[in-house]
Amino acid sequence: MKRLPLLKPIDNLEDAAVLDPAVKAVQKGVESVIRPQWLRDILHGVPIGHALHPLMILAPAGAWLSAAGLDLVPGTERASRMLVGAGVISALPTAAAGFNDWSQLHAQQQRVGLVHSAANILATTLYAASYVQRRRGRHVSGKVLGYAGLALVSGGGYLGGHLSYAMAAGANHAEDVPHLVPSGWQPLAPLDDVPERTLQQRYLGDVSVLLYRRGDRVSALSAKCSHLSGPLGEGTLIEGGDDPCVVCPWHGSVFEIETGEVVHGPATAPQHRFRTRVVDGMIEVSLPG
Ligand code: FES
Repeated sequence: MKRLPLLKPIDNLEDAAVLDPAVKAVQKGVESVIRPQWLRDILHGVPIGHALHPLMILAPAGAWLSAAGLDLVPGTERASRMLVGAGVISALPTAAAGFNDWSQLHAQQQRVGLVHSAANILATTLYAASYVQRRRGRHVSGKVLGYAGLALVSGGGYLGGHLSYAMAAGANHAEDVPHLVPSGWQPLAPLDDVPERTLQQRYLGDVSVLLYRRGDRVSALSAKCSHLSGPLGEGTLIEGGDDPCVVCPWHGSVFEIETGEVVHGPATAPQHRFRTRVVDGMIEVSLPG
């Protein structure tokens, strides 16, 4: 079975460089509004270990879909109106989380994301108007506006799915690492060839490994950033405490080198951490499990 021809224009959207000035302007706006690092981390989903935005979508989408069902049932105007209003209110933090993620994506993802967000903003506006009409007792126009909003939010949702699944925005880009590394201990590099207190990159087959050495103690992480595959071997080392960190050169995610845990997003998934040992002067690594 082939993809519906009707959906082919989305490929053109990915390459629509005409959207880039708008992308830049919106990105600047997002970065100036959502400034505190702790807020950015929460909206990215760092505390829950994966993107927050897809979870939050449940609230407005669920409320609006329920309202669309109730609009077919006589005598449910009040409940339907409350659901429409709840959807509008919950759409605001959902959009904030989405824009926060979007501001740290690749150009092609941002073009699709811009249209996704425009459709959802328009849908939310229609639902807000629908709520106002319902409050005024104009239920027919309230329902028409609601169904128009539902059509738009469905189109926006399709683009969101394309962004997440076809373009892998928000996915863990280092998920494949355990499937590429042979099981058991693997020789990686002679200890003496690894300078102390610097970021070093070595390869285990096709898998790049980030090394950090203090004396005989060696830490090793997957060097492919879980956010969008950025090269952590070219990142910046932050020392100064017990827990040295690496900053991804692409979007600034910060990971603890010892544990691979995310300190700051946009990454939400930790880096795979290798166990290490030194045998006859050779650093060996293995992935737990
Ligand atoms: S690739 Fe985006 S933070 Fe690393």
